[in-house]
Amino acid sequence: MPGIAHESDGDVVRLRPVTEPDLAMFRRFCTEPGLIGLDWGGFRDPGESVRRFAVDGMLSAQDGRLVVEAGPDAVAAGFVSYRAGQYAPRADYWEIGIALLPQWRGRGVGWRAQALLCDYLFAHTPVQRIQAGTHPENLPEQRSLEKAGFQLEGVVRACEFRAGRWRDGYLYSRLRDDPSPWD
Ligand SMILES: CC(C)(COP(=O)(O)OP(=O)(O)OC[C@H]1O[C@@H](n2cnc3c(N)ncnc32)[C@H](O)[C@@H]1OP(=O)(O)O)[C@@H](O)C(=O)NCCC(=O)NCCS
Repeated sequence: MPGIAHESDGDVVRLRPVTEPDLAMFRRFCTEPGLIGLDWGGFRDPGESVRRFAVDGMLSAQDGRLVVEAGPDAVAAGFVSYRAGQYAPRADYWEIGIALLPQWRGRGVGWRAQALLCDYLFAHTPVQRIQAGTHPENLPEQRSLEKAGFQLEGVVRACEFRAGRWRDGYLYSRLRDDPSPWD
């Protein structure tokens, strides 16, 4: 099953749909300052994830969220997200995102989860392109994207207002025909 699980030396990273017990983790990302990392933009409605989960389990045709499971006990380590975009008619793409809980960072989970999500999206949708944005100071995400098979495309100037001012972002992409990071 492409994009569901990756095992290396008995260490498994898995993607699965959100379940009700995971909603507490989503609420934490909305209300604990900085838990989500550099994307922290102030307190957000913690009820939004509960309402969204009730509508479609956070899986629509246009966007979705999957829980990243890791460790021997297969606990929820964070989540990945995807959202549809379009550069031109018949030129659809996905933009992906990720946030792991702090205790799961730097343990080889993030790059594998993003590589799994690419396998999943390329297997189940015909898109040619998956993109991801990150911050110039987010070295873990830059390296994680590169390990997941992404290439840096360039700097997107003043694309986000964060921590008091407009800031540049880095845009990465992985194309369907790019080399797989598992090979
Ligand atoms: C960004 C994030 C997803 C990366 O996942 P991760 O599991 O921590 O990273 P990995 O363990 O898969 O590491 C991937 C690579 O990055 C490197 N890396 C990890 N942490 C690093 C750090 N603090 N500084 C420099 N490199 C780092 C690893 O060494 C590895 O490269 P290597 O194999 O060449 O050594 C994760 O740290 C996270 O959720 N951070 C908070 C939320 C966030 O920033 N999301 C992205 C927003 S754009």
